[in-house]
Amino acid sequence: PSRIRTVHLRRFKDDGRRFAMLTAYDAQIASIFDEAGVEVLLVGDSAANVMMGRTTTLPITVDEMLVFSRSVVNGVRRALVVADVPFGSYEASPQQAVATGVRFLKEAGVHAVKVEGDAAMAPHVRAMVAAGIPVMAHVGFTPQSEHALGGYRVQGRGDAAARVLEDARAMQDAGAFCVLMEMVPSEVAAEVDAALEVPTIGIGAGGSTTGQVLVWQDMLGMTQGRVPRFVKRYADLRGVISEAATAFADDVRSGTFPAEEHGF
Ligand code: KIV
Ligand code: NA
Repeated sequence: PSRIRTVHLRRFKDDGRRFAMLTAYDAQIASIFDEAGVEVLLVGDSAANVMMGRTTTLPITVDEMLVFSRSVVNGVRRALVVADVPFGSYEASPQQAVATGVRFLKEAGVHAVKVEGDAAMAPHVRAMVAAGIPVMAHVGFTPQSEHALGGYRVQGRGDAAARVLEDARAMQDAGAFCVLMEMVPSEVAAEVDAALEVPTIGIGAGGSTTGQVLVWQDMLGMTQGRVPRFVKRYADLRGVISEAATAFADDVRSGTFPAEEHGF
């Protein structure tokens, strides 16, 4: 199957077709999603949460993200691979943003990077695009700004709707090939999708965006405890794995494993 490229996402929108994106952080999971036909894989800085057990995305480093990113690239044949540039690795200047973006394409082999931010990040995105780095923009609720935004909150309610549209427009004008919206009212996301030429991706943004994304551990029931209301759980992997681990430990304790056929 031929590769999904950024131009194809644009074509999906033009043709009124939807596409799927899931996060991935390792080669095996990436290959499963790739073979299942998921068009885009996101090496999210949510790796800080789901892979490293941190409570925010802020502490993850470029070097850590590069390991996850390279692993996903190695597991993929068809999907477009996008990696998050982590907090602190791009905001200081367009030059810093270009240098970080180059590392993701050069050292990890990803096809694009995702940048969180409002209109203030437009010069950074413009510089990255000019350097040959495809950029997906992330607006609305941006987890790297969790402390500035006062926690996990829906963005763009009421008068703030205009701000989301403004940010999305600024990112498109700066050359972003796609705009992802997180936790914005469904009507606002619909308005933004209609106003933009580039495709949009939603998470907690209703059903009018061109694509949808979820964190795979949330989607497959790996995440412990409460998950956000925008998550739909498609499997209970935590239960499956827990049962298998319990059975293995029981077999070892009882002497049932290994059996004769497992020995040499
Ligand atoms: O890091 C991440 O997983 C993300 C998605 C939730 C959009 O940015
Ligand atoms: Na992210």
